[in-house]
Amino acid sequence: MDPYEIRMLENHEIESWFDLRLAALKDAPAAFLETVDEAKQFGVEPYLKRLIEGGKDNVLFVCQDRGEIVGSVGVVKNTRKKLSHSAFIWGVYVMPDYRKKGIARMLMNQAIAYAKETMKVRVIHLSVAESQIAATQLYVSLGFEIWGRQPNAICVGDLVYPELHMSKQIP
Ligand SMILES: CC(C)(COP(=O)(O)OP(=O)(O)OC[C@H]1O[C@@H](n2cnc3c(N)ncnc32)[C@H](O)[C@@H]1OP(=O)(O)O)[C@@H](O)C(=O)NCCC(=O)NCCS
Repeated sequence: MDPYEIRMLENHEIESWFDLRLAALKDAPAAFLETVDEAKQFGVEPYLKRLIEGGKDNVLFVCQDRGEIVGSVGVVKNTRKKLSHSAFIWGVYVMPDYRKKGIARMLMNQAIAYAKETMKVRVIHLSVAESQIAATQLYVSLGFEIWGRQPNAICVGDLVYPELHMSKQIP
């Protein structure tokens, strides 16, 4: 039996998810555009507002172990009419102690299935810093294709990383 529960986050649980978000920003700064200081400054409210306003078109999937959120993936449908056939995946993260157990793959599969069946999109986009080898491998294994490489995209301290832009077509 699968020991890990993957499910959609409910809005009232956003504080628990935000704890994971802060840990992710600290642990893997090159993987995310937001800094820890920015996240602390703006707090949880902007995320909650987006979830409330987005409804079923802006959701987070989480993995929970014994009550603690240990991983998450966000998926948001584009609201612009001419882009409404597409969704974007963001905030992919699994806590270090829980890695290499298939959790990110389960989270991504849930997000992809949701984008296909509920959001009814035909393409899913994401962006990943080239330094994030595990994440890039994961996305390739799930059928995402690299269509662009943006040099000098993400700056963390003195280091500057290229970013890969990837898409998965939904049949
Ligand atoms: C990327 C990340 C989410 C993967 O989480 P995970 O739960 O360990 O991943 P899984 O166990 O589900 O592995 C799924 C696939 O990812 C790839 N992968 C995972 N860890 C890897 C590693 N250390 N090296 C290379 N590929 C790796 C493999 O393709 C793997 O499939 P396989 O087990 O059949 O080989 C995790 O390493 C992480 O949180 N990294 C830091 C944050 C980050 O880079 N986020 C991406 C933002 S765009």
